[in-house]
Amino acid sequence: MRPPADAIGTLSLIVGAIALVIFIGVEGALVYAIWRYRASRHVAGEPASFDRNRGLEIAWTAAPAVVLAVVFVLTLGTMAEISGAGVPPTMRIAATGHQWWWEFTYAGVATANELHIPVDTPIDLELTSTDVIHSFWVPELGPKMDMLPGVTNRLRLFARRTGSYDGQCAEFCGVEHAWMRIRVVAESQAEFAAWLRTQALPRATIETNAERVFLSNICVNCHTIRGTAAAGTAGPDLTHVGARATIGAGVLPNDVERVRAWLADPQAYKPGALMPSVPLSSADLDALAAYLVSLR
Ligand code: CUA
Repeated sequence: MRPPADAIGTLSLIVGAIALVIFIGVEGALVYAIWRYRASRHVAGEPASFDRNRGLEIAWTAAPAVVLAVVFVLTLGTMAEISGAGVPPTMRIAATGHQWWWEFTYAGVATANELHIPVDTPIDLELTSTDVIHSFWVPELGPKMDMLPGVTNRLRLFARRTGSYDGQCAEFCGVEHAWMRIRVVAESQAEFAAWLRTQALPRATIETNAERVFLSNICVNCHTIRGTAAAGTAGPDLTHVGARATIGAGVLPNDVERVRAWLADPQAYKPGALMPSVPLSSADLDALAAYLVSLR
């Protein structure tokens, strides 16, 4: 199969070409009529008139109906293709919208905001939401699909080339709607398998002082770090947060300096986000930022 976005692109070109032919025909006739019957050629007397030209009326009713029927059939074909009709998915990934981040779950292993997929593999995303309506949209890969609380929608994903694809929540979902970015990382089968194996592991570090800072503060109410006692589910799973390219669903690059700034005052970067500022000493902030970035 091909990426659903390719099928949508092909359909757009065909419909655009049909529209262009009609536009040229209609505008051409208009310009010709203006030129042919211009005032300087005016012949005295009433202009010719006619009515009840049955042939003409049938033609200009039937022609648009035929064009629309052709477009309808082409659209049905594309809809079937992009939904993956007849091609069973090799993998299912649960994608859950939150205000304002994405949760991706692979057979029980949760991660956030960065969706890794193998190339040349039909994947079904199972979309839902925990709060309001979000919409999953990665334009280079496929169509938009709503994420509705209490409903699971299915979206076929298929990437043909490796690389990263940017996406964005496409349904206004609150003040930080614009900072609800998606990054899809399409990898070779081997790279993807290695990534998934790592994600399934508990956190790589041993218990350190910095980890105790995390565990003794309110971080644990909302975040999970597998391998520790932290098992909150309101915020992103942080077990391998250091391996992600950004934090805050795209709001900042993921490095020690930026993570520290984020921890010190999340509201400065993402006003309205549910993450509060945690009063920590400067030394604790340094340690916590370095610890989180080390979770790869
Ligand atoms: Cu989520 Cu807009």
